[in-house]
Amino acid sequence: MATKMSFSPRIACVMVGLPARGKTYISQKVCRYLTWLGINTKVFNVGNCRRELCGAQQDHSFFDPNNVSGQKQRKEAANMTLQQMLKWYDEEDGVVGIYDATNSTLERRKWLQDTLTQQDIQVFFIESICEDEALVAANIKDVKLSSPDYKLMDPEKAVSDFQARIAQYTSQYQTIVEQDYSYIKLINVGSQVIVNMVKGYLESRIVYYLMNLHIRGRKIYMSRHGESMFNLKGLLGGDADLSPRGRLYAEMLPGIVKEKLGGKELVVWTSTLKRTIQTSEHLPYLKQHRKALDELDAGVCDGLTYEQVEEKYPEDFARRDDDKFNYRYRGGESYRDVVHRLEPIIMDLERQEDILIVGHQAIIRCLYGYFMNYNQEDLPYIKIPLHTLIELTPKAYYCEEKFYKADIPAVDTHRPKPTERRPPINTQAVLGSGGEVPSPLLPPPSSTLSAPSSS
Ligand code: ATP
Ligand code: F6P
Repeated sequence: MATKMSFSPRIACVMVGLPARGKTYISQKVCRYLTWLGINTKVFNVGNCRRELCGAQQDHSFFDPNNVSGQKQRKEAANMTLQQMLKWYDEEDGVVGIYDATNSTLERRKWLQDTLTQQDIQVFFIESICEDEALVAANIKDVKLSSPDYKLMDPEKAVSDFQARIAQYTSQYQTIVEQDYSYIKLINVGSQVIVNMVKGYLESRIVYYLMNLHIRGRKIYMSRHGESMFNLKGLLGGDADLSPRGRLYAEMLPGIVKEKLGGKELVVWTSTLKRTIQTSEHLPYLKQHRKALDELDAGVCDGLTYEQVEEKYPEDFARRDDDKFNYRYRGGESYRDVVHRLEPIIMDLERQEDILIVGHQAIIRCLYGYFMNYNQEDLPYIKIPLHTLIELTPKAYYCEEKFYKADIPAVDTHRPKPTERRPPINTQAVLGSGGEVPSPLLPPPSSTLSAPSSS
């Protein structure tokens, strides 16, 4: 059989740890981050395969290392998941597969390491160790009671069964000691981190990302600047002042934020452009003006209206409609460029507590798209209206969102995805563009993540 040539390194992130140590949480976050960066990533959860093969309602004795048939069925579920992952690398050009299970014995890890390495896939183990019993108990309440394993079960019984399941795993748990393996150990939610034999750029990005994560409760607020003089005229880009209505929004914003936040402290980031700085002017918090948050650079189209762009650069205009994420303005940027420019902002954002970002239409789309897990095709069309405060509350596997609209009218700068497919343009750049009729509603979040649940 001919071997398929693969030029970019394929990586398997293999999770390790006792139940309720945040493995699925970490898997989902890494998947969302890499997907946002445009890297084909997918989570493979052994728990899902176990439920498929053996049914959901197994009590803790199923996980007893001395339960021969339980062990056999668990091995089958592990193998089925691995086969699904291998198929995905080959058939869907997978780059980073995340194998989410406890993988808590030397034997299981050797099997994974050997099988994956034979397929020319680099293996990177991610172990989460947590000795904080109170946190583990909180995790069980937070996510395990709603797992299909405990559907319809009395919550107290479910907690004690899950604790008994943890005890079964603890009796055979072997922390990673394999010095020839590539791994990271996150101890007590990253308060200590041990890194061993990290290979390559992508692995080091993952390490850096994992070192920035925390799980303290917080709110992420986002707002576009108040309406600007350019917005009033429908002009792209520029560095205009706020319009009178934009100034009103700037005056109102501190009250809206305070009502949501109470007396808590907040950090405010703006871009270096006048309209975001003016919008943040009355906010009584620490402010940072960051160049990386400046609006998408429209290059030669800066200062034009969409109509003028269509008239002066009709081919460009059509190309942007065909593939808005990848289209790069002449002398300017694409959404893809902006995502890459925002990567350090995401790293920093992950470290922050409560924060407000006052940004621009394309910038807020990219940041919001990261937290809400949008795919690249839909991201440039997310509706982010002016004079609206967005509140995101990170939960275990998703973000809760609320939109607060201030009672100050503003122009609508959203240009929807054209509903009719244009005639094809004779350039390479439009190859592969989609032609579906978009929904007039907000596009749904992408579905690259598998349904999170316990292993
Ligand atoms: P299982 O083996 O049963 O699938 P799991 O290890 O995958 O369990 P998760 O389902 O990911 O556990 O647990 C989610 C909870 O873990 C969330 O409440 C999250 O806040 C918390 N959490 C996230 N990261 C960590 C960490 N590094 N250590 C401990 N808890 C964490
Ligand atoms: O119209 C306001 C604005 O912030 C412009 O400066 C920018 O070019 C545009 O939005 C980005 O939105 P889109 O990518 O939908 O054109």
